[in-house]
Amino acid sequence: TEQLKARLFEIHSVAGRFYHEVLQSDEGTIARSYMEGRKLQPNISRKFGLGYAPERRGALMEHLKEKGYSIQDMLQSGLVIENKEKNGYHDRFRGRLMFPIFDPQGRVVGFGGRIIGKGEPKYLNSPETILFSKSRNLYGLNFARAARKKELILVEGYMDMISLYQAGFHNVVAALGTAFNQEHARALKKFAEDIILLYDSDEAGTNAALRAIPVLTANGFRVRVTQVPDGKDPDDFIKQNGAVEFSKLLVNAVHYISFEIACIQKKYNLNNPEHRVRFATEAADILSKLDNAIERNVYAGEVSRMTGVEEGAIRSEIDKRVQKED
Ligand code: GTP
Ligand code: MN
Ligand code: MN
Ligand code: MN
Ligand code: MN
Repeated sequence: TEQLKARLFEIHSVAGRFYHEVLQSDEGTIARSYMEGRKLQPNISRKFGLGYAPERRGALMEHLKEKGYSIQDMLQSGLVIENKEKNGYHDRFRGRLMFPIFDPQGRVVGFGGRIIGKGEPKYLNSPETILFSKSRNLYGLNFARAARKKELILVEGYMDMISLYQAGFHNVVAALGTAFNQEHARALKKFAEDIILLYDSDEAGTNAALRAIPVLTANGFRVRVTQVPDGKDPDDFIKQNGAVEFSKLLVNAVHYISFEIACIQKKYNLNNPEHRVRFATEAADILSKLDNAIERNVYAGEVSRMTGVEEGAIRSEIDKRVQKED
């Protein structure tokens, strides 16, 4: 299988170059104007090896055949698939803007393909192969590790990662359309100690951030959270507002506990006494999970100020819960 692996690396590298060349050709005009519309610059397109998969059903397959690769290897790569009638083969990716997915060493191990304009699915990714696992791979890690920052920014999507990179923020990675998990955390641990979570500020993104927090803290990361305003994503934000405004969002990132508390607060109306009780009680639950007594105290103060409940009362509720856990 080492030989098979080597051939699959080759196929991915050949395919990446193929898509990239198509992007420069007449066939790639539509993708180039799409990129222009999204303000992706040509130097970034080269750096990230962006490409275009043509509409022709067997374009990549023919190219790989010319290079001498067998249909078995093409199928193993996931870039060529059997057709529905099971009497032939065709390319997995057609008519899409192609994002090569790199391993931490910078080798292409898969692709994500975005539809040009509207349609379903918006992104199509390589399947799991012997080179690529979406639950392990983090998009951009090969670039982010080169930035040598102990702090990494974690975003949702390809375009967020690339857009921030283009604006000069090189310490960014994305978990691609999959929940951030234990294996992602382990992969990041080699390169970073601090994480700034920057998911989309819609409901899905907020919930995904809330789910990523325990995974990160369980793996010993210091976690802060920030969001762009108005339900947008980092890519939208930085294109509209620029790098200086974006830097302010990073500076204003809050400790994950503050973020969790702010999220539960949205469910309550703090002018209502009953709601104040329920909010402060739920906050005590969250704070009791902190290992650090000083942190518990600091955030108990925050909840006290939000609710007008005496800090001592909040602290004793927290202490009750801490003792139960011990
Ligand atoms: P743009 O519309 O191109 O800016 O994409 P986005 O990154 O803003 O998309 P979104 O916030 O909806 O999703 C975040 C990430 O989830 C994407 O970058 C993809 O990696 C993944 N994703 C989104 N849509 C799909 C899909 O239809 N299928 C799969 N497999 N992944 C998706
Ligand atoms: Mn995005
Ligand atoms: Mn989203
Ligand atoms: Mn987006
Ligand atoms: Mn998005």
